[in-house]
Amino acid sequence: MARQFRLRPAPGSHNPEEGKDSSILDRRRFMKYTFNAAGGAIAMASLGTVGFASFLMGQADTGGEDTGVKYWVPKGQEDVVWYGSMHEQEMQKSHLVAEAAKSNTGMAGAQGVWSGMPVNIVYVPHEENESKPPAEGVPRIQYGEGYDAAGTFIGHGREIFDVTLEDGSPDTSLQPHDNILLMFSRCPHLCCIPGWQLVANDFTADTWLPGGVDAGGNKLFCICHSSRYDPTMLEKNRNRNRSNGSTFDYFGVRLTGGPAPVGLPLIPFNVEDDVIKGLSTYQEWYTFCD
Ligand code: FES
Repeated sequence: MARQFRLRPAPGSHNPEEGKDSSILDRRRFMKYTFNAAGGAIAMASLGTVGFASFLMGQADTGGEDTGVKYWVPKGQEDVVWYGSMHEQEMQKSHLVAEAAKSNTGMAGAQGVWSGMPVNIVYVPHEENESKPPAEGVPRIQYGEGYDAAGTFIGHGREIFDVTLEDGSPDTSLQPHDNILLMFSRCPHLCCIPGWQLVANDFTADTWLPGGVDAGGNKLFCICHSSRYDPTMLEKNRNRNRSNGSTFDYFGVRLTGGPAPVGLPLIPFNVEDDVIKGLSTYQEWYTFCD
């Protein structure tokens, strides 16, 4: 029997078209939803040898790019995800704050697109909890040791506070702020696109455990081969560009399980008038699927 995944509780649990409970997805249907979620980006990436990061670079070159992060609602999921009515609308911090207030953990997440690239965004009530000791159900951002795919120690997540720009000034854009984390969302395993809590199972239950462990909920879950990522544990990682073999270090969120070799890269951003805007400072980090 095909492997099935149960969606989180959703309005309208019966889908007459399919003749079965729409809260159940098999792998084929999930893949359809997932690739629809970033269909525009994938369609563009298929046009020859241009990679995802090339779109970002191309937009950056124009000088007039739209830097706003937009919601991307998977086709058929309009009544399932909380941002279902906001497809291609700009993401606003206040939306995330309002949605997070409804959850057990004070967290919320959404799929999106930024500069033609698939992204995930997660709201974590870090500022409220950062002075508290890590405890179950009290989400906050933590920092851990990071390793490359061979298991070699690369650095610690706290080095994020030491990052400098070319002019030597500190780059604070990567440091946690506004209780928001923005991540490039192609899986470092085989480049699928993880979804935030699209399935409800042991990895995505609405709970939080400290330490970047696999047991708690609120994970980014890649259904292709079940890699899991904890958006609350920041660490330093190393990956490589698959086209030219060059390696690069980056800051990202921890891989907690599954076959992916390393975690997902962070995207620096600003919040301007409530709108979340990505910054293209570290384009190399997003080239591992090129
Ligand atoms: S592509 Fe994500 S686990 Fe394989």
